[in-house]
Amino acid sequence: MTDSAETRFRTSQLEENDGPPVNPTDNRTMGEIIAARFSRRGFLKGSLAISAIAATVSPLALVAADEARATEASAFKFDELEAGIDDKHHVAPGYDADVLLRWGDPLFADSPEFDPVKQSAEAQARQFGYNNDYVGYIPIDGSAEHGLLVVNHEYTNPHLMFPGIVKIVEKDGKKAAEVAPLSKEQVDVEMAAHGGTIVEIRKEGGKWQVVRDGKLNRRIMSTTEMALSGPVAGHDRVKTNADPSGTKVIGTVNNCAGGVTPWGTYVMAEENIHGYFSGELPEGHKEAANYKRLGIPEGAYEWGAHYDRFDLAKEPNEPNRFGWIVEVDVNDPNSVPRKRTAMGRFKHEGAESIVAKDGRVVFYLGDDERFDYVYKFVTKGTFNPNDRAANMNLLDDGTLHVAKFAEDGSVAWLPIVFGQGPLTAENGFAGQADVLIETRRAADLLSATKMDRPEDIQPNAGNGKVYVMLTNNSKRKADQVDAANPRAENAFGHIIEIVEDGGDFAATKGKWEVLLKCGDPSVADVGATFSTATTANGWFGMPDNCAVDSAGRLWVATDGQGPKATGRTDGLWAVDTEGAARATSKLFFRVPIGAEMCGPLFAPDDQTAFVAVQHPGDGGEDWEAFGRPSYYEDLSTRWPDFKPDMPVRPSVVAITRQGGGKIGV
Ligand code: FEO
Ligand code: CA
Ligand code: CA
Repeated sequence: MTDSAETRFRTSQLEENDGPPVNPTDNRTMGEIIAARFSRRGFLKGSLAISAIAATVSPLALVAADEARATEASAFKFDELEAGIDDKHHVAPGYDADVLLRWGDPLFADSPEFDPVKQSAEAQARQFGYNNDYVGYIPIDGSAEHGLLVVNHEYTNPHLMFPGIVKIVEKDGKKAAEVAPLSKEQVDVEMAAHGGTIVEIRKEGGKWQVVRDGKLNRRIMSTTEMALSGPVAGHDRVKTNADPSGTKVIGTVNNCAGGVTPWGTYVMAEENIHGYFSGELPEGHKEAANYKRLGIPEGAYEWGAHYDRFDLAKEPNEPNRFGWIVEVDVNDPNSVPRKRTAMGRFKHEGAESIVAKDGRVVFYLGDDERFDYVYKFVTKGTFNPNDRAANMNLLDDGTLHVAKFAEDGSVAWLPIVFGQGPLTAENGFAGQADVLIETRRAADLLSATKMDRPEDIQPNAGNGKVYVMLTNNSKRKADQVDAANPRAENAFGHIIEIVEDGGDFAATKGKWEVLLKCGDPSVADVGATFSTATTANGWFGMPDNCAVDSAGRLWVATDGQGPKATGRTDGLWAVDTEGAARATSKLFFRVPIGAEMCGPLFAPDDQTAFVAVQHPGDGGEDWEAFGRPSYYEDLSTRWPDFKPDMPVRPSVVAITRQGGGKIGV
């Protein structure tokens, strides 16, 4: 547990794990490989371009012609929104962006109304949780206008949640904020605000409504009982005093992105688990190196002071029970969520899936840490579209792979299987359970490629491609890049596109290409590669979540922009991937200051984009610029216009076209 008040600000900083990188290997970074690749190609392309220009027309005329072609060819038809910064959300002209669900909204007939000054775990357990991230839609009877919305609640920002806990003090002549220690009651509210929500929604008269007390409505929380299943279930390393069987876990934490499986279950990724654990392992404990590789314990949360399972001194095996993919059967509100250990243990970002040609199901998995890896899981069994029950344990058996990207544009998916290659007893693995518990170390030994924070990874059934969001990596050293890839730090991230061999998502080899290097293309040193048709509003940095609509078009959401980083808030951008318009990007929606953009998700008929506005108002200094500080107590007591529905509450927003119709066509 930390004793510093400052570190109790749990913001995106924790999410990004601002500590030192924890990957100890010399495996090559993606930056090194891209640099090597582009140094050769860039030279070639540059020489050809110069001779072509010299022989024909002026460079400016070429750029204008390129822009016209790209604009014409864009797959997205909407008038671009202007980038900017303020305290509201904005959507492109001709669209409505309506708040559908906010933190604290009632989900059941007996739910209390949200009351920020009278919060309790009991109330929160019956209300929409905090910091919405992943958004999924599971149709009811195949409908695009009636279904279950599944939403992850990633983490809590107590300084924005609990009135009266922030004190502004003078420190070294500067204003600083101190956060009071949380009470046990507040910790309980936090635990109930985590997890996920399953809620029935229906579109009526063109507008989405929450079906309060829908019979499948459910909250999943950090107190919900779950089962460990798959190869790690019952292993000694997951047994605790409270659970000597090693099969029963209380709760899930830090559910970032996720997915909906082809058989209609909801999968939640456990990402930054390190912050929830505090206390010290007993001297010489055998899990010390395992936990260090994940940055455990980080201690930003105070849960360990009240619950033994989050205190390493009391339950030293508990962290091995977190860091998994959790599967929830949404059709039964009493079903026990299952932590699917076959899919590996790391800081899971998301779990988007697709059915391969032979019926096996492929899940793409990012491990969001600087210098960590891209994975995919391929089920052993095949998907049965006619028998839902037959698919319910597909995730307990399969092969996890980690990506190794090569300079020649190929990618190899290396199996993470006990007994193969270095994954043997000599390296401390006694079986597959050990390999899965220490997935990162297994991948280290396989010489996987160290990436710039893998976030969402999205397969595209329409064109057989896979998009990998790499959000940024400020810790990449200058000697890991060269002149052809002139970012001493990858401050703005990039997007990689993978084409699996033979268009088979289960293939163990593929080709890769950089789709986009992000950042402001008007600043040469940034080295961004948006097309010349991309306007000053159209570029972005820090790609995080993404979606592919049913037309196969890519939409990218960002996390980490703002006044200092890019001069614009986060938002949702439409990114062309094909033809002359490739790498053209257009701004569609932007969030209030302090928020990151999560979701996004398109309804099956492409007539709604659901987006999740996470931690609006976070970042005190930023809000000061708008004449009011961000902290809750100040908003409620000093800001005369404060109303609970101001955009300081994380919310899911439904974007529809005025008068109806598909989005962006
Ligand atoms: Fe929770 Fe990696 O974003
Ligand atoms: Ca994310
Ligand atoms: Ca994020």
